[in-house]
Amino acid sequence: MRLLFLGDMVGRSGRTAVAERLPGLVADWKLDFVIVNGENAAGGFGITEDIFEATIDAGADVVTTGNHVWDQREALTFAPRHDAFLRPANYPAGTPGRGSGLFTARNGARVMVMNVMGRAFMHPDLDDPFRCVAEIVEACPLGEQADAIVLDFHAEATSEKQAMGHYLDGRVSLVVGTHTHVPTADHQILNGGTAYQSDAGMCGDYDSSLGMEKEEPLNRFLTKVPRGRFEAASGPATICGLAVEISDRTGLAETISPVRLGARLHEAVPVGW
Ligand code: FE2
Repeated sequence: MRLLFLGDMVGRSGRTAVAERLPGLVADWKLDFVIVNGENAAGGFGITEDIFEATIDAGADVVTTGNHVWDQREALTFAPRHDAFLRPANYPAGTPGRGSGLFTARNGARVMVMNVMGRAFMHPDLDDPFRCVAEIVEACPLGEQADAIVLDFHAEATSEKQAMGHYLDGRVSLVVGTHTHVPTADHQILNGGTAYQSDAGMCGDYDSSLGMEKEEPLNRFLTKVPRGRFEAASGPATICGLAVEISDRTGLAETISPVRLGARLHEAVPVGW
């Protein structure tokens, strides 16, 4: 099966690019399953129900999130209503919504998607992400209840992300990082057959600081005195993510290709799709 994962969609620029390009990619690349991280979709901070639904309409099967999931307060209300909306699984018990789910791909495959947050340089008080994913995978193992398993590991530290990749190697189809908004060049298939990339990058305007207008972040580094709000950058976006071919027989990765499409970064598309 062919799976496309798109990294953090930032602001109107990122949303517009995904809405314009994703339907064509689903058709042209014959995608069986699409995951989009949407935690920065509303002006850089959180996601609204309208944006969630528009992302699904554009071709996403699942929208994942991260530390900004509740920035738009309405997410607390709509999260429990939408199975395709995931918040980090290692939030405290009783948190609205859910952090993993089993979905049916266009080819009929059962795809389990997990969304978990890292702790290093981030939120040390969250539940252990390693134990969290182990429990989810043990309850729905690859080759038994699931034909493919994907983890969106929303984390800051590449060390924690790489450790997670090795921890799940051979047990899931793909471990991909989000949150840093910069695509890493370490996409690979690990020894046990799991596709891995430390960070998928963002879908947003790369003439920016993490998708935000660059003036205020620079000002704060220089002066430590806030002069204004962080605003999402409004230039044309580059779509960034990962294309993975997953074996129908084993659920492990057969090919992995970076995806970069749009205004600013060097273009990358999967060969032969
Ligand atoms: Fe984040």
